[in-house]
Amino acid sequence: METFTSKNLFKDRLQSLKVQNKTIGFVATMGALHKGHLSLIDCAKNGNDVTAASIFVNPTQFNEREDFKKYPRNFDKDLDFLSKQGCDIAFTPSEEEMYPEPDNRQFDFGELQNVMEGAHRPGHFNGVTQIVSKLLEIIQPNKAYFGEKDFQQLAIIRELTKQLNLNTEIVGCPIIRETDGLAMSSRNKRLSPDERNNAALISKVLFRGKEMAGKKSVQNLKEWMKNQLNKNPYINVEYIEIANENNLQPIQSWKDAENIRAFAAAWVGNVRLIDNVKFYF
Ligand code: PAJ
Repeated sequence: METFTSKNLFKDRLQSLKVQNKTIGFVATMGALHKGHLSLIDCAKNGNDVTAASIFVNPTQFNEREDFKKYPRNFDKDLDFLSKQGCDIAFTPSEEEMYPEPDNRQFDFGELQNVMEGAHRPGHFNGVTQIVSKLLEIIQPNKAYFGEKDFQQLAIIRELTKQLNLNTEIVGCPIIRETDGLAMSSRNKRLSPDERNNAALISKVLFRGKEMAGKKSVQNLKEWMKNQLNKNPYINVEYIEIANENNLQPIQSWKDAENIRAFAAAWVGNVRLIDNVKFYF
């Protein structure tokens, strides 16, 4: 696997592949890689001639400096994982390389950013789209792969590519889970063994909710899910939402229940986890 830290050298290398008519698939990550990330590498490999991945812990998307500092970093292990998974090129820039000067761009994603993660983490998606737009502009991949684990991020990145007229197809990939259902996340590493065991309840309640859809009112089902989680002494719910997949707006009644998903954000100890499950009707 080739590795680049300089955006110009990386760009030159990609250009040399593009003139050979090779298609490029791209996966953006913040490292601390797990099987969820590696599944995106598999998707990219299946759909393109060359797979490139970035590892960059993006400071502008963290609400708290402390969370940024505590974000797990396993650089050597990550490069090893990427290479074993068949990734062709890794891009591992420094902070100065990506932000030679402060990025003051403010994006507006309208209703997509005013709910759930956007409402609870002010500025988060602006930071995400600052870095993703820079990466997509450097790489100009044919396709870029993002996980449904961060469903709102995926929707916002789709909108970003429209607003910036980028020529990259954004592909969503399914959530990879541990055997007890917990969505894989780099943050899971920060859970104590007890917290880790209890964290599995988040996905269990979302899947139970899916079975109960239509049997209680939307509002009662959200309350029920919230109570099931808050009853657990390790878990503190930030929000539970049932929303339309396309515009991410909460639904009020099952009459609007086409293409919906339940979303949860909850604290387990001092670790904030998110998850979502598609509801079928
Ligand atoms: P990170 O949390 O490292 O995630 C990188 C990609 O992996 C994202 O597209 C995310 O949705 C996907 N992913 C994470 N866990 C997953 C799982 N269990 N199953 C499937 N996919 C999963 O998301 C980010 O980084 C950053 O915001 C980034 C887009 C890189 C911008 O900094």
